[in-house]
Amino acid sequence: MKLKTALPLLAATALFASAAQAYDADWKRGRVYYRSVCTSCHVASPVGQINPSSRTKAEWAAYMQADKHGKGKETVRQYVSKQYRASIKSGNKAAEKFADVPDQELFEDVKVFLMRGAKDGESPASCS
Ligand code: HEC
Repeated sequence: MKLKTALPLLAATALFASAAQAYDADWKRGRVYYRSVCTSCHVASPVGQINPSSRTKAEWAAYMQADKHGKGKETVRQYVSKQYRASIKSGNKAAEKFADVPDQELFEDVKVFLMRGAKDGESPASCS
């Protein structure tokens, strides 16, 4: 192969490799997790349902960025962690099904679901 043709190919390969590294969040998995894990605890505690559509995209983005759940008593990340999933999986199908998903991926999944389901999102959603 001549250098002239090989170079663009190399550039294309590099682009492809970097695209493959960025995680493409799965809002459907996020929805299942939010509804099964986050919501089931909210309805069992005095707080009640927290619909994604109760906030705007900007509000959800800020909430997830701040990563402070319950006014900073704990992180949001804690509730998507493998450790947390392991602790509830005997009684929670979603936690069991997603037991091995990397924490960061599940966090992104929940985040894109919340953004999508926001008041001004693509598809405003309730939590059940
Ligand atoms: C173990 C139970 C439990 C789980 C699991 C849980 N939450 Fe909560 N959540 C609460 C309670 C209780 C509150 C009320 C806040 C307080 O006073 O602690 C709350 C409040 C919230 C609020 C309102 C703002 C705030 O932080 O006070 C949001 C938003 C929220 N939760 C999101 C989530 C998301 C997203 C998940 C899943 C990744 C999740 N929660 C998992 C119990 C839970």
